[in-house]
Amino acid sequence: MATGNKPPMVQFKGIMKRFGKVVAVEKMDFDIEEGSLVTLLGPSGCGKTTLLRMVAGLEEPTEGDILIKGKRINDTPIHRRNLGMIFQNYALFPHKTIFDNVAFGLKYRDVSKNEIEKKVTRALEMVRLPGVENRMPSQLSGGQQQRIAMARAIVIEPDVLLMDEPLSALDENLREEMRREVDNLQQMLGVTTIFVTHDQREALSMSDKILVMKDGRKQQEGGPESVYNEPVNHFVAGFLGHSNFISGEVVEVDDSHVHVRIETGDILFAENKGGFSKGDAVEMIVRAQRFDAFPKEEFKPVQGLNHFEGRIKDRSYMGGEVSYFIELAADREIHIISMMRTRLYKIGEAVSVQVAPHHCHLIPAE
Ligand SMILES: Nc1ncnc2c1ncn2[C@@H]1O[C@H](COP(=O)(O)OP(=O)(O)OP(=O)(O)O)[C@@H](O)[C@H]1O
Ligand SMILES: [Mg+2]
Repeated sequence: MATGNKPPMVQFKGIMKRFGKVVAVEKMDFDIEEGSLVTLLGPSGCGKTTLLRMVAGLEEPTEGDILIKGKRINDTPIHRRNLGMIFQNYALFPHKTIFDNVAFGLKYRDVSKNEIEKKVTRALEMVRLPGVENRMPSQLSGGQQQRIAMARAIVIEPDVLLMDEPLSALDENLREEMRREVDNLQQMLGVTTIFVTHDQREALSMSDKILVMKDGRKQQEGGPESVYNEPVNHFVAGFLGHSNFISGEVVEVDDSHVHVRIETGDILFAENKGGFSKGDAVEMIVRAQRFDAFPKEEFKPVQGLNHFEGRIKDRSYMGGEVSYFIELAADREIHIISMMRTRLYKIGEAVSVQVAPHHCHLIPAE
């Protein structure tokens, strides 16, 4: 982690990339602390790869500067940047042995043969594949090949590890396993890592910090919990998790709560974190998992919690949890995901829904 006057490991200062008329990355300012794992998260085409390629030296910024350890690197050639790179298709050299694949980045450095052997052995141990030096890539599974790609990237002891959707070619179970593997390896080595993904679970589970992007622009940066719990806008809230967006108007603000009249006529309370006043048009964001539903006739409201009534419109049973669509007054609908603490509700059944004010997050209406 950063100390006192040490500059961040990587800094983007007003970085921008245009391809003809397409603006792939728009005026980005962003710092990455030493030893941290940062993910670039966003939908296809939002500029994640372009940003990574500019760090790598594979694309030149149209405007702005990139700094590593406080030094501008815009004009530093690729091979002088001391970066480890791992891409989606692991891109091992098919006709080279695993040893030669891993040793590749060391050949152009001033490293003795003896030292190369030690480093390769060590890197293979780190990715938990010792002893495969003499095999060919085709003799390894997909997950193993991806670990070799990791060994090849870390063997040079890079300042920064760049990973562009490294797990997307793997099937779901293997992905989960490799996600933990990358996480552990990164922590063990303490290497600053920029990880590109469009998978929110990957981003939430691995990152020290997430940079959420859309159309080349930074939407929000922060730790997984802050980005998930306090999204700054509709896009971020919609991209991470299952969100309900409930339109309303602020009718009162007191010390602890903002009172919002929603379209059903109900008044819901949100925790007052400042920034809203009477008359503001707002969107209230509530995660589907935050609501609790109760059979209407058994419901006893808890003081201080929001509650309102509805009717089950649709449900899908998913084993451990159930997804319900609940019809409210005024033709509104909410989506809730219930952990099945109670019985399964029938379609058409009247329910009371409850949610705590601190799970109701407000953003200005867009
Ligand atoms: N070499 C290029 N020439 C022209 N346009 C490009 C080039 N590379 C990228 N773009 C455009 O820049 C935008 C950002 O692309 P980029 O590859 O960075 O997106 P991404 O976030 O990595 O998407 P994905 O999740 O699909 O990989 C896109 O609109 C893309 O079409
Ligand atoms: Mg990409």
